[in-house]
Amino acid sequence: MLTEWCASINGWTMAIVVILLFLLLYWSQQWPSNIPPGPTGYPVVGCLPLVRRNGLKNTLRKLRIEYGDVFSIKLGQTLIVVINGVDALKEAFIKRAEDFSDRPDTYRSATLIKSKGIVQASGQHWKHTRTFALGALREFGFGKKSLEDRVMEEIRIFLEVMSEQNGKVYDPKNIIQISISNIICNIVFGKRFEHGDTKFWHLIELLEDVFRLNRAGTLAANIPWLRYLPGDFFNIKKIRNNFYESINYMQQQIIDHRNTFDPENPRDFIDVFIKEQSRQDPDNTVFEDFNLQVTLLNLFVAGTETTTTTIRWTILQLIYNQDIQRRLRQEIDHVVGHSRFPTLEDRQNMPYYEAVITEALRFGNIAPLSVPHGARKDFEFRGMAIPKGCTILANLDSVHFDPNIFKDPTKFNPERFIGEDGKLNGKEKFVMAFSLGRRICLGEPLARMELFLFVTSLIQRFELLPEYPDNMPTGIPNIGIPSGPPNYRIKAVKIN
Ligand code: HEM
Repeated sequence: MLTEWCASINGWTMAIVVILLFLLLYWSQQWPSNIPPGPTGYPVVGCLPLVRRNGLKNTLRKLRIEYGDVFSIKLGQTLIVVINGVDALKEAFIKRAEDFSDRPDTYRSATLIKSKGIVQASGQHWKHTRTFALGALREFGFGKKSLEDRVMEEIRIFLEVMSEQNGKVYDPKNIIQISISNIICNIVFGKRFEHGDTKFWHLIELLEDVFRLNRAGTLAANIPWLRYLPGDFFNIKKIRNNFYESINYMQQQIIDHRNTFDPENPRDFIDVFIKEQSRQDPDNTVFEDFNLQVTLLNLFVAGTETTTTTIRWTILQLIYNQDIQRRLRQEIDHVVGHSRFPTLEDRQNMPYYEAVITEALRFGNIAPLSVPHGARKDFEFRGMAIPKGCTILANLDSVHFDPNIFKDPTKFNPERFIGEDGKLNGKEKFVMAFSLGRRICLGEPLARMELFLFVTSLIQRFELLPEYPDNMPTGIPNIGIPSGPPNYRIKAVKIN
């Protein structure tokens, strides 16, 4: 019966039905007339074709020139408001933090993550979970000497693994990634993994996929109904499966901790959570297992890829700018010498290191659009309507590559941060790699500690050389979070 009915519908009727459905969808997504200015785009897909052609970062750079510091762009069914430049960013994310600090309600955050954890959460739940996490991380070393010791333990192993490769040509990505990941694992799970552990490697790959597949500007992220199509052309099912596999891994860690839990002797982040859980009202959703699972996932993902990518950007620049590498080593030799490893206390005496890492954070620009924020209610900004349901992007790229702030922004040049007296000249405050306002990166102190201890210990002990000295690898870095350098290989030669 159904097949007969289907057969009776001819191609024209089908086409008309499809067009009507598209128009219905388009009309159901009308926004107020005074939203920030921006390109009109096509029905249904909006400006997605433009973004696919030019890339999101380049498209936004062009639109800023045309429409100013606050503009909007429609990607599929999502309205995106983009905030550009130091003044507008500070006005929105610091002065108007109450309006600008939520996350958007996406399919992934609502259905998979259920708006739990820290990164995708909003409102009171986010506030309480973030406050608890910061307190627990402080208990386990944030800002303490004990954390520096844990990081140095991992660095010693990292340098041993590097020594095994002495003089060979290889890609250092995996070694860095595992070492950095071990630090956050140590804090949250109370354990570290060996460099050859295949199960751990699988977990890291899963989480790398979480970043890779969840990029803003993709069709899957902006046209929600694509997930109902058969097959998995848009990787939506893969994202879901990865998520559940990672969540199961986190739950297993929680079970293992419960089995060996001693309230008098909390070992790590999970133990502090379990201890607090037993004291709280059972209806308090901050202290339920699913919130802990998502928070662990957040800390693990945010704490691994970002710092790893920044170190990879730094090494890439140091191998192709030998003069910068030499000057950095001279500073290390002068302040630290050779008989001991650098310590955090040395940092205040090393302005050139500070300039190099600030330039790596600017140039690497690893989260050019930060992590998307979202409007949970209608409000106005600079006389324009910011409607409930839109996504808001803090365009950090608009500052990091603004030629009015940083001359020749596409050149890697740490000197731009050094004054005539050899000290930092104050320009470093324009580098907003950790974002700004209430959502500012929760791991910034840990990341800065890792960057200092890894980079200085490495340059103190190894001369880093490129595989192809005359041929710096290029390639458009992935726009996503984090946006990484092209792949490259190095030769690290031990300094005696
Ligand atoms: C160089 C390294 C890092 C960079 C450049 C970086 C950058 C960022 C950025 C741009 C955001 C988004 C802020 C916003 O929404 O406006 C963020 C959020 C976050 N970062 Fe980092 N991050 C780094 C390392 C870390 C580390 C090591 C951790 C681990 C503890 C971490 C944990 C987080 C968390 C949990 C959030 C979410 C904060 C919230 O939504 O309230 N990050 N980070």
